[in-house]
Amino acid sequence: MFGVKRFKGLVAIVASVLLLSGIGYAQEKKNGEFWNAGEHYQLDGKAVPVDADGIHDPSNDAVKVLQEPADAMQGFPRDNSGVIDWVKVLDDGLIDPRKGLHGEDQMHTVDFDVIFKNTGSMPFVRYPHRQHTEWLTCVNCHPKIFLPQKGGNPVTMSGIMQGNYCGVCHGKVAFPPTKNCGRCHSVARDTVGLR
Ligand code: HEC
Ligand code: HEC
Ligand code: HEC
Repeated sequence: MFGVKRFKGLVAIVASVLLLSGIGYAQEKKNGEFWNAGEHYQLDGKAVPVDADGIHDPSNDAVKVLQEPADAMQGFPRDNSGVIDWVKVLDDGLIDPRKGLHGEDQMHTVDFDVIFKNTGSMPFVRYPHRQHTEWLTCVNCHPKIFLPQKGGNPVTMSGIMQGNYCGVCHGKVAFPPTKNCGRCHSVARDTVGLR
């Protein structure tokens, strides 16, 4: 049938539609289906077809040429909570998203981490610039969401859960803050030598 390679372009489009249209994730099954109207969080269950997902216009002919997300993302790596691991998908070259509207732009990645230490008894949080700047540009975050200054932002977990700070994206277009705490809280508290 259709190899992943052949559908790279389409997969990238489907992936960016999923990422960019601000889709929440299904906290629970509704009607036995995880992929319910606008809630493609790629867990388990019966797939809702593209033309019935509440996002795409079912009366538009183009909807028929779109590959079903369930096909496109079959076999994509997942994290410990079963959510597609988009960082790995990109690193593994399974998708090749267009860098801009006309495809001529370049991504400007920077590779440095910021460690957040006000984490109560939880492990510290490693915020990695590399993985983010492979998807996003600096102005997606600076200065509106975060002043570009270590310790310069009063980030709290409740703020994140309410959709601020990391929660502007996590829980909407990136893996949710309510699951897989360890993906963010990934640095043991007794790690020495951290800046
Ligand atoms: C998207 C990344 C992310 C995820 C996922 C995440 N956290 Fe956090 N958490 C943070 C950041 C950032 C801070 C703020 C740390 C700081 O200001 O130094 C934080 C702070 C905290 C704090 C400190 C107290 C507070 O309210 O700020 C606790 C406790 C906490 N998180 C628990 C959790 C638990 C439990 C989970 C999983 C259910 C979780 N976190 C998932 C990023 C995350
Ligand atoms: C997804 C959001 C996001 C993106 C995109 C992003 N950053 Fe950041 N940046 C952060 C966060 C979070 C911090 C830490 C803020 C804090 O500690 O309160 C930070 C901190 C910084 C700092 C301060 C470091 C220090 O030690 O004081 C600089 C400089 C910076 N970013 C530059 C950049 C540049 C340049 C780009 C684009 C190539 C970029 N950032 C893209 C989220 C982002
Ligand atoms: C502007 C959007 C945006 C903001 C704000 C943001 N992230 Fe992310 N983050 C993403 C996207 C997009 C990904 C990749 C998709 C995914 O993994 O779901 C990602 C992935 C990650 C990863 C996975 C890295 C890996 O190697 O697997 C971590 C950890 C993370 N973010 C932590 C944070 C923390 C902590 C904050 C807040 C300090 C934050 N992010 C703020 C968009 C954002």
